[in-house]
Amino acid sequence: MSKTGHDTFKPGAIWEDFDGNHINAHGGGFYYEDGTYFWYGEHKDQNSLAQVGVRVYSSKDLYNWSNEGVALSVSSNPDSEITTGSVIERPKVIFNKKTGKYVMWFHLELKGQGYAAARTGVATSDSPLGPFEYIKSFRPNANVWPKNIDDSEKVYNEEDKSLEWWTSEWKASLVDGLYVRRDFEKGQMSRDMTLYVDDDGTAYHIHSSEENQTLHISVLTDDYLDFTDTYVRVQEGGQNEAPAIFKSGDTYYMITSGLTGWSPNPARSFKSKSMLGPWEKLGNPAKGKGAELTFRSQSTFVLPVAGKDDAYIYMGDRWNPKNHIDGRYIWLPISMSNGKPEFQWHDEWDLSFFETASP
Ligand code: GAL
Repeated sequence: MSKTGHDTFKPGAIWEDFDGNHINAHGGGFYYEDGTYFWYGEHKDQNSLAQVGVRVYSSKDLYNWSNEGVALSVSSNPDSEITTGSVIERPKVIFNKKTGKYVMWFHLELKGQGYAAARTGVATSDSPLGPFEYIKSFRPNANVWPKNIDDSEKVYNEEDKSLEWWTSEWKASLVDGLYVRRDFEKGQMSRDMTLYVDDDGTAYHIHSSEENQTLHISVLTDDYLDFTDTYVRVQEGGQNEAPAIFKSGDTYYMITSGLTGWSPNPARSFKSKSMLGPWEKLGNPAKGKGAELTFRSQSTFVLPVAGKDDAYIYMGDRWNPKNHIDGRYIWLPISMSNGKPEFQWHDEWDLSFFETASP
């Protein structure tokens, strides 16, 4: 038992760090290196605007976490894109072996614009603990068509412009690329996001695009600091957000949520033999009582446990929009059942779950 004394996970409970404070790292992303896990997340106050930035915690055992301070700080300069009061969500960090840099991508909304900007931002650091230096933000894939769109779908026409939301004509047009066409020149919308680095070092940026109606998966450049011209649309019109990716054997799995803002909804899961798809629907991976609202959580990450085969943790946020600082963390062990990821509720569990779980 360590200093803070946690030797189990208690999903949904207050989770104290070494200083005795509830961990403040929402919409989190995880990075593992040499026996240490790093947890990056949104530092929330009562409201959800960025007042501090992205916080980082470290742990050797996943139960006990040290607050390592602010990895990416908001800027006091009112002209900065990441000024105090902007929205910085779902930060994820990966390491680039070629440049030796830690690279953070996140969802950025410009101050005072609600969720209209729909940008992704990038920052780098020489240390996993930061400080990360902000580089830029933008809407990705401007002037680039996705690999899986037909030539006939590349023209934004008068019909597209006059469509009313939620009509069957709108839905059909949405599926065949309405918003890709609309946003072709200014770049594709990028909100909820995650990153995934494959075994060959290729990094992917996965985000909700097209007014949150369709996911985009894009290949990043070798230095992980930009988008290449390769991206695909995934589950067109499927309304997925909060993506989390992991690989088991030679198959990629993705867990997402539907679109109900801070309120929970049934999770979804998918699998594919390639990051660029096609992705096949597998249904709600949550099982048992409470599964219909994913145990009141929304996915943020799936963490492979270091040193254990096929041991994955579902990580979700139980948001509290009335007092965001009180948002809770729902971590549950994933079991693979007939080639599908599944997780059930546990009031309390520990990593020995993975020793006893059936394959
Ligand atoms: C959720 C999303 C969160 C946050 C929120 C704002 O759907 O997953 O990351 O953006 O909406 O309402």
